[in-house]
Amino acid sequence: MITIKSAQDIEKMKAAGKVVEETLLLLEKNVRIGITTEELNRIAEAYIRSQGAYPTCLNYNGYPKAICISVNDVVVHGIPGPLKLRDGDIVSCDVCATLNGFIGDATRTFPVGNVAPETMELLRVTKECFFEGIRYARPGYRVSDISKAIQAHAESHGYGVVRELTGHGVGRELHEDPEVPNFYSPRARQRLAAGMTIAVEPMITQGRREVWQDEDGWTVRTQDGKPAAHYENTIAITDGEPILLTCSEAIG
Ligand code: MF3
Ligand code: CO
Repeated sequence: MITIKSAQDIEKMKAAGKVVEETLLLLEKNVRIGITTEELNRIAEAYIRSQGAYPTCLNYNGYPKAICISVNDVVVHGIPGPLKLRDGDIVSCDVCATLNGFIGDATRTFPVGNVAPETMELLRVTKECFFEGIRYARPGYRVSDISKAIQAHAESHGYGVVRELTGHGVGRELHEDPEVPNFYSPRARQRLAAGMTIAVEPMITQGRREVWQDEDGWTVRTQDGKPAAHYENTIAITDGEPILLTCSEAIG
């Protein structure tokens, strides 16, 4: 069941989204060669709590840390730990925060030091996929119109679109209806309507799209070992352009 948020609900989601965006900006400033993913997790958790918010991922389905940090071939749900970032890595930070009963969810993939030009291209195109997708995030379109636009942009660059993970509704719960796939699916036929709040999150691979899960039960990697990028924002559907709840950038 898709829940429609009131204007007051959306204001609360803006506040939660702001904490998420600020956490990501803080992480970006701290990403450097030699820092461990555990240290980045600690910085994020301290900031989220300092704002009176709760790091939604912590204990979500038993997840053990405050945020997800996914390096290189890890697509999503990497668990922070002693791994030190190295020159040329890419690192995806997926941050969720709950404030006053509402949740924001966003992800950025950051370069570490000198990253290969072809991998910088993957980061750029993954972000573009989000903005291509949300051109259709308006009443009158279907969820699958967002999906199709993301897939078309990624595949036009020869990239893979992960099938096992999707975007989702978000609000009082982290994962609400509808599913928002990054590839065309006939299931995603719901019509978009003002007051829907969704996380749009292209997960794009440089090589083949197949992934597998590590024995830790969380970490999702590309099977071919090539890098993957992730770009996500929580957005609100309105009668006009969507509101980006976790991103201050203008819609291009
Ligand atoms: N943004 C991630 C998602 O939508 C958050 C996962 S939290 C975790 O799946 F705890 F499940 F890792
Ligand atoms: Co999400």
